[in-house]
Amino acid sequence: MATHKLLLLAGDGIGPEVMAEVKHVIGFLDKQGIASFAIEEDLVGGSAYDAHGVAISDAAMERAKAADAILLGAVGGPKWANVPYEARPEAGLLRLRKDLGLFANLRPALCYPALADASSLKREVVEGLDILIVRELTGGVYFGEPKTILDLGNGQRRAIDTQVYDTYEIDRIGRVAFELARTRRNKVTSSEKHNVMRSGVLWKETITALHAKDYKDVELEHQLADSLAMQLVRWPKQFDVIVTDNLFGDILSDIASMLTGSLGMLPSASLGALDEATGKRPAMYEPVHGSAPDIAGRGIANPIAMIGSLGMALRYSFGLGEVADKIEEAIAAVLASGKRTGDIRTPGGPVIGTADMGAAIVEELGKLI
Ligand code: NAI
Ligand code: MG
Repeated sequence: MATHKLLLLAGDGIGPEVMAEVKHVIGFLDKQGIASFAIEEDLVGGSAYDAHGVAISDAAMERAKAADAILLGAVGGPKWANVPYEARPEAGLLRLRKDLGLFANLRPALCYPALADASSLKREVVEGLDILIVRELTGGVYFGEPKTILDLGNGQRRAIDTQVYDTYEIDRIGRVAFELARTRRNKVTSSEKHNVMRSGVLWKETITALHAKDYKDVELEHQLADSLAMQLVRWPKQFDVIVTDNLFGDILSDIASMLTGSLGMLPSASLGALDEATGKRPAMYEPVHGSAPDIAGRGIANPIAMIGSLGMALRYSFGLGEVADKIEEAIAAVLASGKRTGDIRTPGGPVIGTADMGAAIVEELGKLI
């Protein structure tokens, strides 16, 4: 059995609390002989600043590069509000993304039946929902030059942001989306605004050409980003994989994630370029939520987003999709049994803490495996 090298960066606030539950799941899988892991741990964010004066040490970066996948908790908190800008906790995250070239951000929106009534949309619109947004993460208007505010000298100022995409950037994110669609329901919806943006024209042409060349077996459709935002709320179950640029993906993934529940439920992945020789790609998995300083240290955080992030690592880095399915089933069963952390409680219903939720998921997993 292959041994998977996993680096755990628990980070700050509730990060270590939810990571502790992931360690229980990993320990269980290891003990059962389902998967074998070589675990390393290091610091990131404020905790790294306290120890080393930087948001991530060079040694931790080396470990990150050597790992098959990274699991990250969360970084930040009021304690580090006044540290130097280059050493702020988020700088650790940004360095990981940049140095590992994590250009593809995957945000699933999965609706567990037991939580369908917690959505702001009607149960029938979201029940059974399972979509995946693939957002380009390292290009586009957040990075394009020129990016500046000019003083025009006549009492006016001019702000400039530039949307830039090269063919290779669109091509590689498109490949990620098509490959993922093949492991799901085989449909990709590509989104841009070619009606008003040149980058949208190139995006649509590049995705269309890639589809014709290598992915004819996958169904491809194009939707303008504004219309797609509307469709996500009207009839989200029409989608399987959605691929889009950095700016539209930022907004559309937030809409999609909130169709299905609490921040405490939402995992994510960030993937880098595939190394053809080894068949591996750099990958970091983390919950969508932050360090939740308002509840940190109280043992009440929901560990499901963090455990779901481990599930994504099993699926996308380790070829263990069937184990990831079992983790999702275990979570669904725990929720169906009525167990809830505070963020997803039914009004007036009982609440359990982080450790009890983690233990309940491991127990269900034991019944399924
Ligand atoms: P947040 O996601 O930490 O918290 C927002 C709200 O959701 C809070 O009320 C929190 O208690 C609740 N919440 C979040 N995760 C939860 C969980 N697992 N279980 C139960 N409740 C949960 O966002 P906020 O408050 O805006 O930011 C707090 C700190 O986290 C800041 O320093 C921010 O910069 C950082 N942050 C870090 C991120 C990361 O590491 N990727 C992402 C977002 C924020
Ligand atoms: Mg955002």
